[in-house]
Amino acid sequence: MKKSVPDKNDSITIIGCGGFIGSHLIDRLLAATSRRITGIDLASDKITRHLGNERLTFKKIDMHDIASVRPYVEQGGTVMLLAALCNPALYNTRTIDVIDVNCIGTIPLVKMAAEAGARLVYFSTSEVYGRTAASLAGRGDDVEQCLLREDQSPFILGPVQAQRWSYACAKQLIERYIFACGRERGLNYTIVRPFNFIGPRMDFIPGIDGEGTPRVLACFLSALMRGEPLKLVDGGRNRRCFTYINDAIDACVKLLERPEAAKNQVFNIGNPANETTIAGLARLMIRLWRRQVPGAGQAAVEEVSAARFYGPGYEDSDRRIPDISKARKALGWEPETGLETALEVTIKAYIDQYRPTLRKE
Ligand code: NAD
Ligand code: UGA
Repeated sequence: MKKSVPDKNDSITIIGCGGFIGSHLIDRLLAATSRRITGIDLASDKITRHLGNERLTFKKIDMHDIASVRPYVEQGGTVMLLAALCNPALYNTRTIDVIDVNCIGTIPLVKMAAEAGARLVYFSTSEVYGRTAASLAGRGDDVEQCLLREDQSPFILGPVQAQRWSYACAKQLIERYIFACGRERGLNYTIVRPFNFIGPRMDFIPGIDGEGTPRVLACFLSALMRGEPLKLVDGGRNRRCFTYINDAIDACVKLLERPEAAKNQVFNIGNPANETTIAGLARLMIRLWRRQVPGAGQAAVEEVSAARFYGPGYEDSDRRIPDISKARKALGWEPETGLETALEVTIKAYIDQYRPTLRKE
């Protein structure tokens, strides 16, 4: 029998495939599609169970090694670009690396995709919006005024000394570069702006499988596992719209399946119904933790200033709510998972993953 030749348009190269989002993308693409995937990353521990799959080719390559990446981008199809340093504790402490990986090191990959005629799906961030104009103007309690719209909302970042914005600024420049490549070099692209995706395998637990400060979810889980207080930066007054990873991956698959609707578009991918203050997130996680861990005591919270927690140069986004009407209309996408369910599943996955290590401690 004649062997079917894979259609090159079906092939996907995922740069940054070994991270949180990349690993969930691979789960879904292998389970629910017939696509062939080339995965590029420095790490593969979150995708080890797939390494023997004949539809996945993993290459341990540094994205800065352009010569090694080139053949995979030149094979055409879709290139999904996720490699990044995207942990806020690094923005004001390893600013040069943050600007390098998220911008300078990414530019050659975008150029390469344009030259190869590949379709580029780039993962930007909700942080490009910076601060919300309405809240700066004292109208932060008006949800309608706070909605962030892909093609209308301004990007409001702080001064150079506020190094927190180095990541947002780097991602913003790449977005502008991609947009220009679309206009001037015929690049077919889609930009995704994720709003605080959460789920299993998100980040490391400090002192167990990583060092430093992870994103808030793993900070709180680490405190709960160790029976330490959860730290609320600046009282935990800032708000986020947390989005369950499975809903986010649904959106990614839809935009892969609808290349014409997604062509040269930017999409907010987030769940506006899941908005909470960080203090509210802490309360909910404490309650859900106690439900899942019999005998767990009532965890404490502790307020800490941003300067003490992150060091100098940190500023925060106070409120960011995605307007997702564009993704609804163009992709037929709707997030379905409430915050409580998303946290319940995530907490359970973290307990299952770390229980054996914690027992030994
Ligand atoms: P992650 O840190 O879990 O994954 C990033 C991956 O990039 C890691 O596996 C890392 O090893 C890899 N990487 C970093 N430098 C590399 C290099 N030089 N060469 C090769 N690989 C390298 O992050 P994530 O949460 O999966 O995010 C993926 C993308 O989505 C990033 O671009 C991030 O900015 C964006 N994003 C994520 C979120 C979220 O909620 N998780 C929100 C906004 C934006
Ligand atoms: C994150 C990261 O910049 C990126 O991963 C991503 O691009 C972006 O969100 C996004 O979704 O677009 P941020 O939400 O500020 O940014 O990062 P978190 O670590 O999740 O912090 C959320 C809030 O919790 C912040 O206000 C932070 O100060 C606070 N926090 C964090 C605490 O109160 N306690 C902690 O222990 C950790």
